[in-house]
Amino acid sequence: MDNALAMSNHDVAVLILAAGKGTRLKSSLAKVLHHAGGRLLIDHVVRACLPLHAKKIIAVVGHQAEQVSAAVEPLEVETVLQQPQNGTGHAMLVSKRAIGNAKYIIVLPGDAPLIRTETLRALLQKHKTSNAAATILTAVLADPSGYGRILRKSGDTVAAIIEESQLTPDQRELNEINSSIYCFTAAKLWTALARVKPNNKHREIYLTDAISILNSNGETVLAEIAPAPRETLGCNTRADLAGVDRTFREWKRDQLMRDGVTIQLPETVLVDPDVVIGEDTILEPTVQLLGKTKIGARCTIRTGSVLRDATLGDDVLVEPHCVIDSSRLESEVILGPFARLRPESHLLKGAKVGNFVEIKKSTIGEGSKAPHLSYIGDTKVGSKSNIGAGTITCNYDGFAKHPTTIGEGSKAPHLSYIGDTKVGSKSNIGAGTITCNYDGFAKHPTTIGNRVFVGSDTVLVAPVKLGDGAYIAAGSVITENVPPDALGIARGRQSTKPNWAAKKRRELSGNSAHHPKKKPHKKRR
Ligand code: UD1
Ligand code: MG
Repeated sequence: MDNALAMSNHDVAVLILAAGKGTRLKSSLAKVLHHAGGRLLIDHVVRACLPLHAKKIIAVVGHQAEQVSAAVEPLEVETVLQQPQNGTGHAMLVSKRAIGNAKYIIVLPGDAPLIRTETLRALLQKHKTSNAAATILTAVLADPSGYGRILRKSGDTVAAIIEESQLTPDQRELNEINSSIYCFTAAKLWTALARVKPNNKHREIYLTDAISILNSNGETVLAEIAPAPRETLGCNTRADLAGVDRTFREWKRDQLMRDGVTIQLPETVLVDPDVVIGEDTILEPTVQLLGKTKIGARCTIRTGSVLRDATLGDDVLVEPHCVIDSSRLESEVILGPFARLRPESHLLKGAKVGNFVEIKKSTIGEGSKAPHLSYIGDTKVGSKSNIGAGTITCNYDGFAKHPTTIGEGSKAPHLSYIGDTKVGSKSNIGAGTITCNYDGFAKHPTTIGNRVFVGSDTVLVAPVKLGDGAYIAAGSVITENVPPDALGIARGRQSTKPNWAAKKRRELSGNSAHHPKKKPHKKRR
């Protein structure tokens, strides 16, 4: 479409009918507030209209008017309240003042989200160039039940729209349906609508009745058959919603594949509309990419992983069954399998977070690793550090959250618990080290300096400080500060008794004759 025509729509008002309840969905939520393809139904309709650059877009709201208004107002849609909802024709009349002096009106139902901008453009163009009073978007359906039917006059022109409840037995054969998407010449519509009477069992004013009135006024009504019937489909039932959702998901995946993304078993992969993915990234089956997730090039997202509002650099590998929420992974990060990143986690370049690790609001430095079974919360880990299996940062004392800092190149390789602690750089926290920070009354801090070596199975009873370069003997229970470069050892001294074991064995074998023989167990019956 050339710019000139796109620009010329300042004489058009778009009216979206969204006041109805949607009884057949059996829901406490107004119909247009249901989701399909990762957006609200009405959101899709508004987005299809925006590129038309009409003078204004108006939504008629009624059921849950506040929520529907809140959904569309960010898209610069004006709202009109229709209370009570006395039919589609009544909805038009209520909007008359808001429509103002627009020459043309495009009408759409808020529940037909698959409509495309190009189809609306074609409808509008046909209308403008034909001098018709109304142009109806129609579709030919194998099963037209539930829809109003188009009664053609001759060739292109329409005599009337007959609502389902008013069809004569002969008219039941008609399979061209009214999509409820129309283009009207405003002045002619207002004249006709003024004469519509609520002649139906619901006592409503039907917009569809204006069509036969236009005809009897000698006006022309045209019908334009939609290029794809599904564009006109409404969402009256949960099954309709699921069908529409499937179509949107398919469109999104097709777009991604055209843009160079590999998707295995595409029908199992669910991607929200705003997700962006770089070339040569691979999505394995059953992956879900939600919200504003952004993925770089050459990443692999393996099966079962769910990413919401995640940002991934290039060459990231997400192993199976990871959950990432509102977090950032820089290039070359490896995550999982079975890792969970809670909001505000940041994994710097080349970091590796492995099996059954949970991270919350923490930064893992460049090339650092937390490969197994850890919980890291409110923590800042420097670069090239190693957080061993089973390490737990205990950040909550029942009253407040407290931070942990682990210096660059430091290691805590196995089965540790680090709470309220500051670890300097290039230190080594041995297997099974526990910082004992709670005395039943209050939490106390532990400070571990630079280049400290803490032997395995050490208990550091806080408050306690280990100076730079200190050395703690394995199995110590450290209750006092250890100065820089000192050895801290706090355990019972070993005593070794030569030949003790051999002597004991001899004793025992010499006495064995006097041992009474055990009776065999009787089986219970
Ligand atoms: C309507 C058409 C029917 C068409 C079908 C297509 C009429 C009388 N019938 O029937 O010819 O085949 O759509 O889906 O128009 N609405 C309001 N205010 C109201 C009533 C409805 O805003 O007082 C809105 C609804 O929220 C909905 C749209 O208008 O978005 C259509 O109303 P709905 O009740 O779904 O009409 P249908 O019975 O589907
Ligand atoms: Mg409907």
